[in-house]
Amino acid sequence: MRTVLTFVPLLVLTSCVKIPPNFHKCNRKSPDFKSCVLESAKKGVRELVRPYPELTLPRMDPFEISEVTIGGSDGPVNFQQKFTKCKFYGLVDLDLDDFEFNFEKKVVKMSGVFPEVRMMCDYEVKGKILVLQIDGIGNGTVILKNLKIMDVLPFEETKRMGRTFPKFKSSSITIDPELVVFDFLNHDNRALSDNVNPIFNNNWKDIFDEVKGDYANVVDRVVLNVVNSFFSKVSFEEAFDSA
Ligand SMILES: *[C@@H]1O[C@H](CO)[C@@H](O)[C@H](O)[C@H]1NC(C)=O
Repeated sequence: MRTVLTFVPLLVLTSCVKIPPNFHKCNRKSPDFKSCVLESAKKGVRELVRPYPELTLPRMDPFEISEVTIGGSDGPVNFQQKFTKCKFYGLVDLDLDDFEFNFEKKVVKMSGVFPEVRMMCDYEVKGKILVLQIDGIGNGTVILKNLKIMDVLPFEETKRMGRTFPKFKSSSITIDPELVVFDFLNHDNRALSDNVNPIFNNNWKDIFDEVKGDYANVVDRVVLNVVNSFFSKVSFEEAFDSA
């Protein structure tokens, strides 16, 4: 299975920057550090509706990915999907219920729910689903309802100019939607989309299970990109009080 992902090019700046003024700092020595970080992260996610070029953070609503290719498998969903010009809506509505910075174990853990994520792309597919040959190009929307996520992000610390910058090594996200709704429009053959959409929607669980790992990989890379962009500019000393 192959997953290719291309981001819309981001602006890259190398100088150190101040964190945004509305970013809420928490004190590492305070007894309510944990709940403070959760509140701060909750608010921080909502602030991503606009881009922060100084932190190399793109706008997250919509969040744009120029290309995602997901390879075929040997299961009942045997097709290659190439999505281009993807726009994701609803990512800033993430309702975090846990966000923990563990400095000793050098790991961040988070979990939460996206009420609704909407992904709109142009697509090119080649292959079969069940018995139906579904080659074609078109555009489509995938809606993920009440998408539960859980993520573990181990990091290493690097020192620069006397400050500590975490570098997140990996992201292991699990994604678990309550419902997935597919709406594809085939440009060449409208009748085909009329036939395929009900099949997709009646079998959404099996179909989603098949591609879930690939989608999780895409999300992992987006998450890593966001946290590493932020923490390549903002050190622990700037993000947290410790006096
Ligand atoms: C395809 O694109 C058209 C025009 O942008 C849009 O109106 C339509 O809703 C899209 N269809 C799907 C299934 O996303």
